[in-house]
Amino acid sequence: MSKKISKICCIGAGYVGGPTMAVIAQKCPDIEVTVVDINAQRIAAWNDKDVNKIPVYEPGLSEVVAEARGKNLFFSTEVDKAIDEAEMIFISVNTPTKTYGKGKGMAADLKYIELCARQIARVAKNDKIVVEKSTLPVRTAEALKSILHNTGNGVNFDILSNPEFLAEGTAIQDLYKPDRVLIGGDSPEAIQALVDVYACWVPNENILTTNVWSSELSKLTANAFLAQRVSSINALSELCEKTGADVNEVARAIGTDSRIGPKFLKASVGFGGSCFQKDILNLVYIAKTYGLTEVADYWEQVILMNDHQKRRFADNIVSTLYNTVSGKKIAFLGWAFKKDTNDTRESAAIYVADHLLNEQAEIVVYDPKVPEEQIYADLDYLNTRSEKENRNLVTVVNDPYEAVNEAHAVAVLTEWDEFKAYDWQKIYREMLKPSFVFDGRALLDKEQLKGIGFEMYTIGVGEEQ
Ligand code: UDX
Ligand code: ADP
Repeated sequence: MSKKISKICCIGAGYVGGPTMAVIAQKCPDIEVTVVDINAQRIAAWNDKDVNKIPVYEPGLSEVVAEARGKNLFFSTEVDKAIDEAEMIFISVNTPTKTYGKGKGMAADLKYIELCARQIARVAKNDKIVVEKSTLPVRTAEALKSILHNTGNGVNFDILSNPEFLAEGTAIQDLYKPDRVLIGGDSPEAIQALVDVYACWVPNENILTTNVWSSELSKLTANAFLAQRVSSINALSELCEKTGADVNEVARAIGTDSRIGPKFLKASVGFGGSCFQKDILNLVYIAKTYGLTEVADYWEQVILMNDHQKRRFADNIVSTLYNTVSGKKIAFLGWAFKKDTNDTRESAAIYVADHLLNEQAEIVVYDPKVPEEQIYADLDYLNTRSEKENRNLVTVVNDPYEAVNEAHAVAVLTEWDEFKAYDWQKIYREMLKPSFVFDGRALLDKEQLKGIGFEMYTIGVGEEQ
């Protein structure tokens, strides 16, 4: 008999923890879900009376929060209390790539996970099921187990791996109708307890159970395969530009092959997001650790291709603008790493901006959801130039037409739908001539904009010779 869960605690109220727990609370009214975080400001935002002010922008999320919050969904900074009361604890803290020491720039930094484990071990007075939700390198569960069992108060901890497959921008739909829920573990009772939670709304055939290591490795593998598809089509985008082919036509043609399938074949200025790069670097690091040089090199190439794509987009802007962008105004449409999210982690826009700022460009950014302070924080984090210089060279505006006013060029970095609906005649009138558009998402109607008078560059679309 598996244990029936009545109280869940989730440590980490971010892009993963917040939406996942909101949906669990909505779908399982008998379970009390408390999401805790050490960041008091973030918790206050989750508790804001105005549900539109919650810290994660995700279509449909504020409605779910409005429905469940205060009933069986709570956001709190009282981490110890929530751990103590819960039978099941999800760990959804951030696991960034290490920025120091061994594995710098490659391995996942597990210090936040370890702190959580130590905290759980210190506080727990009765048996707990601990669920790793954050993306983690393979064999993290083992580390968790070792900390929990050696520092705990003699209570029993069952550790499960339950990787997240939701994509930002569609998180709520992904949670409602997951292709699969994956649960890895070695205790059948603990696995069943978590299966029962998801079974509130996910059909049983979509809940897969495996051993812990398979589950952990599946997450890295899924992201590596998805990122590899994007890098593959991006590699072809450059060849298409040279040969006069159109990468979108190529993608459509190959996507009809059922073995290949149509998704994740959209050429872009480069993939971003908190997972792809981090997970591949992790995979590469693990492969290297086991001496598997060829395996490591193979996957590393996906990242190298992505870096190249961002770089060549920026280089192309410079060379097209007569080999100099110094003092020229470039309007960025979009800063988020994809549409329908306010997340900017690893966004291609950051790196394209950084290259252009090295060439002394002046950048004006408009993004419908990303606030000014986040844009500056992203640039400052790179440490390429002083914070003062970043603020001198980059302006953030709330009106797209203000961004393009007297600009030499517009660069589309995120595929927000609203960009397509803009009055491009008006934009043309307000820009300097010749007016260049660099469409890094193949979002805009190239022929229509050329008709207006724009000089168009669309990623992956060559000029027919
Ligand atoms: C990803 C995985 O999809 C998800 O399963 C996992 O849990 C977390 O990582 P996410 O990073 O939110 O999700 O977004 P995703 O839709 O995968 O896009 C990642 C990046 O690839 C974005 O920058 C996106 O613009 C880019 N991309 C995606 C393309 O450039 N072309 C495509 O065809 C698809
Ligand atoms: P993700 O995309 O994985 O959800 P985020 O960075 O959005 O990542 O969220 C992770 C959250 O975890 C942050 O809000 C951070 O403050 C929180 N966090 C990190 N360490 C701890 C900890 N030891 N206790 C509680 N919360 C933590």
